[in-house]
Amino acid sequence: MNTKISIIDENDIAQSIINEAASVIKEGGLVAFPTETVYGLGANALDKLAVEKIFKAKGRPQDNPLIIHVSNFDIDFLVKEIPCMAKKIMNRYWPGPITLIFNKSDLVPRITSAGLDTVGIRMPSNIIARKLIEEAGTPIAAPSANISGRPSPTDVESCIEDLSGKIEYILGGDKSKVGLESTIVDCTCTPLCILRPGTITIEMLREIDGKIYIDKNIMSKPKNDFKPKAPGMKYRHYAPKSPVKIISGDLEKTVAKINEIVQTNMGNKKIGIIATDESKKKYPYGTVVSLGDRDHLDDIGRNLFEVLRSFDAIDVDLILSEAFEEKGIGVAIMNRLKKSAGFDITYV
Ligand code: TXA
Ligand code: MG
Repeated sequence: MNTKISIIDENDIAQSIINEAASVIKEGGLVAFPTETVYGLGANALDKLAVEKIFKAKGRPQDNPLIIHVSNFDIDFLVKEIPCMAKKIMNRYWPGPITLIFNKSDLVPRITSAGLDTVGIRMPSNIIARKLIEEAGTPIAAPSANISGRPSPTDVESCIEDLSGKIEYILGGDKSKVGLESTIVDCTCTPLCILRPGTITIEMLREIDGKIYIDKNIMSKPKNDFKPKAPGMKYRHYAPKSPVKIISGDLEKTVAKINEIVQTNMGNKKIGIIATDESKKKYPYGTVVSLGDRDHLDDIGRNLFEVLRSFDAIDVDLILSEAFEEKGIGVAIMNRLKKSAGFDITYV
């Protein structure tokens, strides 16, 4: 398939390009588009055949439901009811990087919700995304625009790498501002439950529901009967081509341990190191990439997927990563990092 690629200036949005991409959605095709979290791979959420194409293009397991993206608060036609807590979150954090789970209406096809009675809905803050949805005149179902299992794309180049030739249209904008996928909150239960941590943190959400908690199945190594409430959280994810190992603990000890592993393996392995601005000069060997300053976890989150992907281009045999404290955005960063490492963590 010939994929049309159009790059749009986020500060001067060309309506003609939005119209062209929207017409692909209206005709049942697929469009990769920017959001503030990561790029999405969109189709008309209410068109079964269009949604089926998303699963095929990504190689996505059929039991993994899609998030529906909307451009305004009018979601009554997609859900059975909007619980009061959900309304409070919508008023506070929409548009923005948070997805809410509702009981779905009959209008949402079963393939979109992967057979579940519930549906995830999000109103992105990215203006290109909202204009595309508005112009398409239909809610847009969109998973992250990567091939299943790979790190989510945070720029147009990553979308092109994964999806060129597989979809009709790639709509490019700026690099994603958040860089980690949305927080997912199940609003069908009391208290509320976080199914995927993101940059809208549990601390922020506790101001709305003091009892909100994180699904205990997602932060630690999956057991055999592992059954997270967000089906997608059980799959290997965010993985670059080479294995990732996390070293966790005091920064000085972490650096020493990483240097020890590098030196032991130097003769036969090319090793990548995921470091931070505080530590990057302390690794004399290996290919060192910094995620940013430890005092700015939002920068670390924004750069994580791009850094994971960057190691594929230089073909390393092993990637060693520093860890982050599981507090605030650190919870989301460590959730993605642990999954990319298949939960291979050494504590020092
Ligand atoms: O930030 C985001 O959410 C990005 C952008 C494109 O909006 N989208 C995204 O979609 O991350 P995806 O498909 O890569 O991840 C969606 C996650 C999966 O883990 C899926 O299982 C879960 O959301 N999910 C979707 N609908 C659900 C539902 N009804 N109940 C529980 N989990 C659901
Ligand atoms: Mg994804």
